[in-house]
Amino acid sequence: MCGIVGYIGGRTALPFLVDGLKRLEYRGYDSAGIATVGESGLELVRAKGKLHNLEEKLNGVAQSTGTVGIGHTRWATHGKPEEHNAHPHTDASGRLAVIQNGIIENYAELRLRLKERGCLFKSETDTEVIPHLIACRLAGHSLLEAVLAAVGELKGAFAIAVVSADFPDELVVVRQQAPLVIGFGAGENYFASDVPAIVSHTTRVLTLQDGECARLTRTEVQVHDFSGARLRRTPRSLNWNPSLVEKRGFRHFMLKEIHEQPGVIRDTLEDRIGDATGPIRLGLSNDLFADLERIYIIACGTSWHASLVGKYLIEELAGIATEVNYASEFRYCPPPLNPRTLVIGVSQSGETGDTNAALTAAKARGVRLLGITNRPESSLGALVGELIDTRAGMEIGVAATKTFTAQLVAFYLLALHLAHLRGTQPGERIREILIGLQQLPAQIEGILDTQERYITELAREFDATRDFIFIGRGLNYPIALEGALKLKEISYIHAEGYPAGEMKHGPIALLDSEVPVVAIAVPGKVYEKTLSNAQEAKARDARLIGVAPLDEPAAVETFDQILPVPVVEEILSPILTVVPLQLLAYHIAARRGLDVDQPRNLAKSVTVE
Ligand code: F6R
Repeated sequence: MCGIVGYIGGRTALPFLVDGLKRLEYRGYDSAGIATVGESGLELVRAKGKLHNLEEKLNGVAQSTGTVGIGHTRWATHGKPEEHNAHPHTDASGRLAVIQNGIIENYAELRLRLKERGCLFKSETDTEVIPHLIACRLAGHSLLEAVLAAVGELKGAFAIAVVSADFPDELVVVRQQAPLVIGFGAGENYFASDVPAIVSHTTRVLTLQDGECARLTRTEVQVHDFSGARLRRTPRSLNWNPSLVEKRGFRHFMLKEIHEQPGVIRDTLEDRIGDATGPIRLGLSNDLFADLERIYIIACGTSWHASLVGKYLIEELAGIATEVNYASEFRYCPPPLNPRTLVIGVSQSGETGDTNAALTAAKARGVRLLGITNRPESSLGALVGELIDTRAGMEIGVAATKTFTAQLVAFYLLALHLAHLRGTQPGERIREILIGLQQLPAQIEGILDTQERYITELAREFDATRDFIFIGRGLNYPIALEGALKLKEISYIHAEGYPAGEMKHGPIALLDSEVPVVAIAVPGKVYEKTLSNAQEAKARDARLIGVAPLDEPAAVETFDQILPVPVVEEILSPILTVVPLQLLAYHIAARRGLDVDQPRNLAKSVTVE
């Protein structure tokens, strides 16, 4: 969850570190800190809160000229978001500094032991045991040896980086189930939790694997395993467009990413639509699907919502029994699995700790694995044998938008591919849905062009609103969940999503004139039912907002306001109905002056349990 970054080279490290932290701030923003090594030894600057607090602090002190340094932006796990808990943490000498992303599970026991040896602790973090452990092992050893000895005592999932004023020409980094990528420059080398921090400096990168560590000097990167044995690893070239990490005139990354959706869908579909003999080209092996009995989809949050749509599509089009599990539940309560089970992991970051741990557990039980992600280079990418790259690229806004729609498109392609392989749908039906998918980008452009201003105005009406309810049925029930999640996570307004038919079994008691109800009602098999459920809410004085076609008299009659969507076949509608809900959440939050891209308590990559 936290972001870590480091530099060793011939230039002053500080500008690189601050810029890198800016690019990683989406990973956590409870505090930030930097340690550099220069002629005056180790210099440490840390600040509570967002990165700009650290920048202000740095402006107030003589700027470090050290050419080696590490930086950290924190999502608090152990210890409150206070300056004394901000990374880097140092040993007793103050000459060695450590940053960590992850959790050290046995830190309490290690801390007790170190205290008995006389170590003094200044923070409540799990990380602070690490510099003390390394310092205890340093006598007569290299920095790498001391770090590896310390790592041997740690339990948990972590990425660690270490600098020391006594070893001014090196940096040591370690990876154990938390992301870490190394960048290769000319006369300088870098590392970071994620590529945006280094991509404007180099596209030659090496993703460290679990159980590996590296010693970075100005001219060399040596990779080792945890026993110290040297490993041969070759960097690869990153196909990366740095403009993805710029706002390009939009007020927030989230708004930019909502507007990128038509292009993303075109990219996701591009070259994947074939002919009658093979209508979908996903580049997946047919063995993955032979004699398939059942599918389990594992995901969290917004990816879990996309998976619910995926389940519907796979069952409807390909007739394969499919279940969607929260990764955090699947880990500890797995269902019966066998070699004829396909487990699909879905993740926009590819680094979600629960999802990757659940996939690892499933893999150990001999199932077939498939990943759906926009980050093929991620840990999830390395874990699964087969992958659908959604091609949504990097998403910076913490609230997922374009990665969600790209996951939906990937599920349409997968469901249609399975339908073709199993012969469950005639070729014409598959072609019809594919044509419909290809029309979606232009239809989303239409929604964005015509509705943004209206939704901006509508958002004004909810300044004092404290609760929202979202309802939908069938394929649009997950979209109601997603609409509610988008609103709550960025505006902090309480919002719940329900299957429309469930309202009368309890939640309807919440309704009165203060609680707006947003209903997704598009023509199809549950259209009239959803309108009736909306009427039931109206009878309780709720203000009704419909996501519905404008030219449908029944919808016009039912709703107080309509966020219009074009009429499409119901099966394709989720990709359209989610867009006005993203805009509504965005404009309500932006109007409240909230930090839309970095909502409180959240992070883009949730690598901890
Ligand atoms: C919400 C959001 C989160 C993520 C969840 C899983 O907007 O982004 O709910 O969907 O944390 O993350 P990934 O998809 O990276 O596994």
